[in-house]
Amino acid sequence: MGVTAGKDGLLYKRLKEVIDEKKNLQDPLIEVLREAQDIFGFLPIEVQEFVASELGLPIAEVYGVVTFYNFFSMVPQGKHIINVCTGTACYVKGADRIIKMMEEELGVKLGETTKDNLFTLSSVRCVGACSLAPVFVIGEDTYGRVDSRTKLVAILDKYRQ
Ligand code: FES
Repeated sequence: MGVTAGKDGLLYKRLKEVIDEKKNLQDPLIEVLREAQDIFGFLPIEVQEFVASELGLPIAEVYGVVTFYNFFSMVPQGKHIINVCTGTACYVKGADRIIKMMEEELGVKLGETTKDNLFTLSSVRCVGACSLAPVFVIGEDTYGRVDSRTKLVAILDKYRQ
């Protein structure tokens, strides 16, 4: 049974508690969606429908917010999110090469999650560390000037342990 199966499930019960707690806030939608993503790991359409109906909002409004902000995801996310910077400085210094090495090393394309659910490969605009270009971020950790596959694999290995 998937995490989203059954609206009577434990996860929906937790989400309902969150909604009850937050629904009187002036604009509860983003906060509720953040909590929903923490609970479910991502925001499939059934969860969005549940949030919409509980908050009395049109589903289009909820969907609009989920698709507008890149910290919301409609697909399952890996334990570690790898964000490769594709801002101008990083692009010039070889962000494409980093993405290609990541894709080959992880066996996924940009936007996908590895089969073991350990990594999601994603891209992001300038993270403010241009002097280290090309840059990628894993969770809270920023890595710059990774110029060889050996270095890249050593970094990924830290998260594989
Ligand atoms: S462009 Fe990549 S950190 Fe600024």
